[in-house]
Amino acid sequence: MIKPHGADALNPLFVADQAKRQDLIEHAAQLPQAMVSSATAANAVMLGGGYFTPLSGFMNKADLMSVARNMSTSNGVFFPVPVVNLLPAADFAAGDQLALLDPNVDGQPVLAIQTIEAVEHVSDAELDEIASAVFGTIDRAHPGVNAFLSQGNMLVSGTVEVLNFSYFATEFADTFRTAVQIREEIAERGWQRVVAFQTRNPMHRAHEELCKMAMQATDADGCVIHMLLGKLKAGDIPADVRDASIREMVQHYFPPNSVMVTGYGFDMLYAGPREAVLHALFRQNMGATHFIIGRDHAGVGDYYGPFDAQSIFDEAVPEDALEIEIFRADHTAYSKKLNEVVMMRDAPDHGPDDFVLLSGTKVREMLGNGIAPPPEFSRPEVAQILMDYYQSIDDAA
Ligand code: ADX
Repeated sequence: MIKPHGADALNPLFVADQAKRQDLIEHAAQLPQAMVSSATAANAVMLGGGYFTPLSGFMNKADLMSVARNMSTSNGVFFPVPVVNLLPAADFAAGDQLALLDPNVDGQPVLAIQTIEAVEHVSDAELDEIASAVFGTIDRAHPGVNAFLSQGNMLVSGTVEVLNFSYFATEFADTFRTAVQIREEIAERGWQRVVAFQTRNPMHRAHEELCKMAMQATDADGCVIHMLLGKLKAGDIPADVRDASIREMVQHYFPPNSVMVTGYGFDMLYAGPREAVLHALFRQNMGATHFIIGRDHAGVGDYYGPFDAQSIFDEAVPEDALEIEIFRADHTAYSKKLNEVVMMRDAPDHGPDDFVLLSGTKVREMLGNGIAPPPEFSRPEVAQILMDYYQSIDDAA
């Protein structure tokens, strides 16, 4: 199986031994506490599940700056985005242990224990420099930038022991998987060549066909649909609705046993190209050999060009940094001439009117009015789930 990033074995920081975990939960009750940001909590969940291998905790300032500037930690581990615990205030010292409280679960239970390596101040100017490097902008209207810059200036670094998987394990019990679990399942299924698909949306025809095209082109044994289960910007579709619609699509339109429907507990960064590289790293860690990157991957608004998330792999990712291979997809849509979903680069004689193209805004409007998008755009089973959802929020409003 493909090796994890930068290590021979995964490094999941979840304390798997139940007795040890119980001891640590009791121990945590005696420790100083800090309520972390949602992003930091999600980082802890990802560290717990092995997705951030080979990291062993939250980055210090030298690593933070180095990752922002060069996509590499100060000791040379390739890493595309900072993994940090930034707090508004931190009255702790190196060597202390800290109980990290989960902001996303009622009662704010302890999510992880951090052993503090250092507490360092990061100035506003430094935070802007980091945001600019990672997100390409410091515009607070960018949801990822706003979340990043809203955490505080005190950087608390050090190793973590993760005690649970937050709300992901409870609210999405059938879908949430750690990288450890996905590797195990790929091995059980005997898949050698595995395509991974990132998504934060319900899957329409274009998404479905992208998976099928990638599987065919890479001669894959299977596809792991790996949906983001964490926080999204306002207006994006909640994970339970996406999950239901994706499962319905897979059940009706993919051969049996060719797809694993899974999810991971991380908040969307909307960091476009940098996030695409992070996404590839996650998928290598979970055992996929190929990763699909299409149009405007992990993008938001007009901050990134439609294929920046592909070109970063040529321009800024060293050849040997990641082992996973990228399947680069062009804009994909239903061709009225060919009566099938195609990539536009494979239909050079087509003009825009030859495709069924609908904007996200238009699709939302149709669904909200109880009108199903055409079957060339959305499978009817998927459209039904989305219409029910949009009408339920309209009724509630
Ligand atoms: S993302 O933020 O998670 O990237 P989304 O769930 O919409 O958003 O997309 C998942 C993947 O499908 C990304 O790789 C994206 O580039 C790709 N994609 C979505 N729609 C299209 C399309 N019409 N043509 C080509 N690629 C697409």
